[in-house]
Formats: sequence, structure tokens, C-alpha cells
Amino acid sequence: MLSVLNTLTERLRVALEKAFPEAAAAEARASDATLDPQLAPASKPEFGDFQANGALALARPLRQQPRAVATAIVEQLAADPAFTALCLPPQIAGPGFINLTLRPEALVAEVASRLADSRLGVPLVGASAAGSVAPSPPAEPVIVDFSSPNIAKEMHVGHLRSTIIGDCLAGVLAFRGHAVLRLNHVGDWGTQFGMLITHLKQVAPEALTTADAVDLGDLVAFYRQAKQRFDEDEAFQTTAREEVVKLQAGDPVSRRAWQLLCDQSRREFQLIYDRLGIELQERGESFYNPYLPAVVADLEATGLLVTDEGARCVFLEGVSGKEGKPLPVIVQKSDGGFNYATTDLAAIRYRFAAAPAGDGARRVIYVTDAGQASHFAGVFQVARRAGWIPDDGRLEHVPFGLVQGEDGKKLKTRAGDTVRLKDLLDEAVDRADADLRRRLAEEGRHEDEAFIRHVATTVGLAAVKYADLSQNRTTNYQFSFDRMLALQGNTAPYLLYAVVRIAGIARKGAEVAGADALGSDPGDYGGDAALVFSESQEWALVRHLLGFDAVIAEVEEELLPNRLCTYLFELSQVFNRFYDQVPVLKAPPQARASRLALCRLTADTLKLGLGLLGIPTLERM
Ligand code: ARG
Repeated sequence: MLSVLNTLTERLRVALEKAFPEAAAAEARASDATLDPQLAPASKPEFGDFQANGALALARPLRQQPRAVATAIVEQLAADPAFTALCLPPQIAGPGFINLTLRPEALVAEVASRLADSRLGVPLVGASAAGSVAPSPPAEPVIVDFSSPNIAKEMHVGHLRSTIIGDCLAGVLAFRGHAVLRLNHVGDWGTQFGMLITHLKQVAPEALTTADAVDLGDLVAFYRQAKQRFDEDEAFQTTAREEVVKLQAGDPVSRRAWQLLCDQSRREFQLIYDRLGIELQERGESFYNPYLPAVVADLEATGLLVTDEGARCVFLEGVSGKEGKPLPVIVQKSDGGFNYATTDLAAIRYRFAAAPAGDGARRVIYVTDAGQASHFAGVFQVARRAGWIPDDGRLEHVPFGLVQGEDGKKLKTRAGDTVRLKDLLDEAVDRADADLRRRLAEEGRHEDEAFIRHVATTVGLAAVKYADLSQNRTTNYQFSFDRMLALQGNTAPYLLYAVVRIAGIARKGAEVAGADALGSDPGDYGGDAALVFSESQEWALVRHLLGFDAVIAEVEEELLPNRLCTYLFELSQVFNRFYDQVPVLKAPPQARASRLALCRLTADTLKLGLGLLGIPTLERM
């Protein structure tokens, strides 16, 4: 109900100005917003829909009792037709809170507009509040840097978390109308390629001469072998170091070897992305290689660069390490090489720079584990001091906690190995498959194999995604197949089941309504004037449904997908309470049509919300 919130904030603001003209004049002079009504959604349902706390802050400068201030505001509101059309007479509570309750007609009008709006009340950025077609501002991309595994290394559960969370955030931002660039900042550059290429040239020289893609087998094992030789064999080490230089100088054979390694990793990563339905654009570390010298030049020009023990670095302000010494970000090592941080500096510089020599972004979001927090804090600070970030530019690190096993330790297989993502997804689907077959047998239902595979795949993958997203991402997360696949609780199966249940109600509703004057489509409730709600569970559902737009706005700002999960879970609970306690199919025609319309809106909200989480829904399961 963000548009209602905006309107009411305006009416309160007008009431404040009328009640306290002297304060309004003083505010205009001082330009500090003391007349902010501080309107927010009510903290408890018994307080109504909204709560304005502004009277409390105003009491002191006005030298009046907060309740007296609140009373003066309420008197003005009572005389404002634009306010009284929306709200019942306000209540003053506690020390001077003003509680607002919307009129039933206002809620019904909101429901009707949601029913006619495929965006369910969520405005597009740039669209004016009145819904008129305002010209959109130029699309300044928002960049979400996520997933970002490393070539020839394992894509592990941490990358899976980044992939799932990043995909959801990118989806929400895109739905709001931002031009979103989903970037996969793969680790495809760096000194490790020296040993990988050296090893490749020795064990599979034919790979470098044939034109076809060569299968290098298990790249992770390949990496391990290369690393072992590097650690044990001095001659190998020397060759590997020379190989890095050759690669950076553009030697064709070294480039070809590098390309082969990247291609093979890319194919393996893509298998995971395809299964999860993730789209993202690869722009690895190597992309920024040509821009590294400019980073050094810029930092030099701004006087930030200091030479310390041969390395070129920038000392951070306000951050100190052991013994209170300031901490540096190393930009160029003493041997002339660049590192992870240098690449990130080049990436930031490029992302904010104007097109076509950059992305022209205004907001850049990084989704990685919390362990990289100080890395990002450091490079963000250097980028700001270097002057690469416009004043309104936002740089945000979206950290997440570790994935743990049910024992609270690092997630491992029974044999003690690291868990492969493919195996993890397979197991989720297999378990969903077994659960489904058991349930079908219990219910005496017969379904074909195609149906079973489709439902099991959808449920299994949804469970993995939802379990991750529904946690507050900043905490560590305990991975448990049993918990994520449970049909009860805050899980994907529970929500998917709610959608299925409502679809079933809609089908029956169509049959029952078939003979009535009201249409057989559950959406055909007979128009705005025909919506009637009477029961408290109905109003509870209405109010919850109308909170969808505010939740999306919150996720857009705070980048916490679990807020959306909690909202959807609560919506299913409120719906189930409504459906258990209020007759729908057996209600008289007009009430039935209104309630079926609420059912449809609930299903649409769940589907849209789950879609934004990256979870497709089912009609039957
Ligand atoms: N490749 C890194 C890792 O696996 C993550 C990269 C995140 N993105 C960035 N711009 N640094 O930890």
C-alpha cells in the first residue's frame, strides 16, 4: 500500500503545517525536516494500518505536550476530505502516537486495483505515483556481481549461495524496472594459470593442436595434480612462472591453453546454471586486464599511491591492523604483478565510468561470503578516494554466512569429501521424487512418469533455493535435506502446495459458479462495487495481500531476500486460516465471488513472489 502511504504522508504533512504554521516557517528557514509525520505501517494489527510518530519529535521544539500536538494534528485531519475519504477517525495512543485505520471502501478499492494489475501494485521505477505514463529516466544499470566461481577450481556451496541470492536480487531489481547487468566475475586470471598451463602442456599436449574441444576430464583433480607438482618440483615452478609471463604477453600457445581451461570450466558451470534456470553474463577477471595500468596511473595522479617495501599500495583511512598500524590495499606487488584487489579496483572504475568506455552504473552489488567483507570495504574506500564513484553512486557488499552441515561443521559428504554441486542438486531431486511417490501411493493416486519427474525436479530445486533464501543471509546456514523438503513449515514444498491448493479451489469455484449470474472465471467477481468482505479473516487476508508492494520495495533497498520469503510464508498461513474458517465455495454468490477473487489474488501474489525468488510454481503436485 505504498501509494496510500504516500498520500497519507502528504495529508499529514499538510495537517502539520496548518496546525503549526510557525513551526513550518521555522522549518523552511532551517531546512531540517522537523515536520516529518513519520508515518509507517502499524507495528501491530490492533493499532490499525499505519502509525504516525511525528508528534513526539515535535513536542519539544514546540514546548507542548506530545498528546496536545497529536490532538491538534488530528483536528486538522478531520477537516481534510482527502484524508477522511481514506481513513476512519484517527486514534491517539500512548504518549502521542496517531493510529490510522483505512476505511473498508479504501481497502476494497486497493484490492480491485490489484486484481486488475499484473504487477500487483509494485510500481516501475520512473513511473509517476498517479499511474500516469511519465517518461522513464535514462536507464542507469544496476550491476549485480554474483556466482563468480574460479576457473579450474570447484564451484562450491559458497558459490551456490551467491548464485541463488544474486539471482533473486537481480530479479527483484529488474522487476522494479532497473536495467540490471548480471555479471559473473569468474576467476579466470592470475598466477595459478602458470602451473595449470604447464601441467596441461605436459599431460595433454595434443589438446593444444587439435581444433576440437578437448575433454580434460575432472578439472578439480587436474588442479590438484598441477598444484602438487608445483609444490614439489622446482623446475616445474620455474616453468610455471615463465608461463604466467608468456600468457600475459599474449603468447598464442599459452593463450590457447588458457582458453581450453576456461572453456571446460565454463561448460561445467553452465550445467549448474541451466539446472537452476540462472542467466548471467560472464565477464571474468581477465576482462579488466587491459585496465590495470590505468588504475595505477589514476591512483598515482591523485597522490594516493605509496611505495611500501617495494609494493605499491594505498593506506586505508580509519582501518588499522595489528599494533594500530594502518592497513594497506596492495595495488601492485613488488614483482610488478597485480592481484585480486587490483582487478576489483579496475572493475569498479569501469562499472561506474560512462558508456561506451564503461557501464555507467549507479549501483553495484557484490554477493560473496562474509569473509570478503574487509576486501570490499578496502577497495570501496580506495575507489571513492580515487574519485571514480559519482556522488549518488552506491557500492554495496551483500555478505552471506557459511553453509554448514547439520552438525554445524563445514558441509561434507559422508566420506568426508567436499560436496559437489551436481550431487547436491541430484540428491534434492531424488529425495523429492521418493517423497512424492510415497505420497501418491498413500493417496492412491496414479500419475505418469513425466508428471512425477517434473514435480520432483521443481520441488527439489525449489527446496534448495528457498532454504537458502529464507535464512537471514548474514548468518551461517545449516544445510538439511529433511528440513528443506518438509511439507510443513517455512519451506518451498509448503508454499508450492499452497499455490496448488488455491488452483484447486479456483477450479471448483468455476464449476460451482458456472450456473450463476456471476461468471465462471474466478477473476470475474463482478467489478469493484461487487466486492464484499465481512469476516475478520477476510480482512486479515486483504491487509496481508496489500503489503506485497512494500515488501518488494524493502528487498530492493535492503537486499534481504528472506523478507520476501517470510512475507510469502505468512501469506500462505493467513490464507489457510481464512480458507479453514470462512466458507468460500458454499457461500452465497456475491460473497463467493469476492472470496474467489481473494483466492486468485493470493495465488497470483504467491506465484509472482516465488518467481522473484527464482522458483517456478506448479498447477498440480
Ligand atoms: N571468484 C571469487 C571467489 O570465488 C568471487 C568474486 C566476487 N566478485 C568480485 N568482484 N570480487 O571467491
